[in-house]
Amino acid sequence: MTNVHIITGGSSGIGLECAKRFKDGKVLITGRTEAKLVSACEELKGLGVDALYKTSDISDQASVDELFAYGKSLGDIKTVLNSAGVSGVGASAKKTFEIDLLGTLHLIESAKKNISPGGVLILISSMMGHTVLDNPAYDGLLVEPDAEGAIDKLVEIVEDKSDLAYNFSKKAVQLMVRKYASDFGEVGARIVSISPGIIMTPMARKAAEEHAEKMKAMETVTPIKRLGEPEDIAKAVKFLASDDAYFITGTDLLVDGGLHLKLAELMARA
Ligand SMILES: NC(=O)c1ccc[n+]([C@@H]2O[C@H](COP(=O)([O-])OP(=O)(O)OC[C@H]3O[C@@H](n4cnc5c(N)ncnc54)[C@H](OP(=O)(O)O)[C@@H]3O)[C@@H](O)[C@H]2O)c1
Repeated sequence: MTNVHIITGGSSGIGLECAKRFKDGKVLITGRTEAKLVSACEELKGLGVDALYKTSDISDQASVDELFAYGKSLGDIKTVLNSAGVSGVGASAKKTFEIDLLGTLHLIESAKKNISPGGVLILISSMMGHTVLDNPAYDGLLVEPDAEGAIDKLVEIVEDKSDLAYNFSKKAVQLMVRKYASDFGEVGARIVSISPGIIMTPMARKAAEEHAEKMKAMETVTPIKRLGEPEDIAKAVKFLASDDAYFITGTDLLVDGGLHLKLAELMARA
């Protein structure tokens, strides 16, 4: 049977870079914009990747279910990488929660039902998720964002600030990975997350334009002394998707050049 690797957000940035590394089967990329998917597919095919696309919106469970049904019709779903997301720049707090938080839950729900034994769901979180402390006031809402009124309550908690909605959504990804590890284990599959630092993709460039000084300061204090590139994350994704990582589940991997160690210092300065 053919291996299928589903990559949400595969038309750009981290998702596209990761898609380039899956050459043992079909790579199904998805996003909302067809033109971006067509051009990414062409690029991938040029690199020898058996790429296909389907438009979908992760904030809509039905759309995600259709994506998985299509994926399953192509073969055994071995890898699901959720790299779709928005940074909060130019989006409301509610929209950010709907995509980054609810979208993650939709992926988990569909993956649980459709992933093959030996498969893995890799969720892209963020170093910024590690800045949100555990708190019983919101941890329950973060892992059950589909409960009635949960998103509205979270919007209230973050005072309608979309950058905080992003950080809270990424914290939720880390909590969900822990919550669902046993469910994935039941079907012989794994679930993990990766927390990137600053990675130079279209999303980060947009944020860099808005917060140029902050970005420079982050580069300066990063122990590795540079910002990240999409391939830094793609290498970690390829490892976590491989059989070498078969004993790794229910956990988050920070891939940030060590920047998280300096965040408290940076935040105190701001
Ligand atoms: N870049 C960084 O510094 C950084 C750091 C930490 C974490 N991350 C995380 O890494 C992931 C990828 O970021 P990136 O920098 O690669 O961003 P990017 O280049 O902007 O790519 C985002 C991708 O997500 C897709 N997307 C957005 N909303 C979607 C939705 N509702 N449904 C389906 N697809 C959607 C976009 O396509 P369409 O717009 O066409 O839908 C695009 O393909 C995100 O989760 C981000 O939060 C990035």
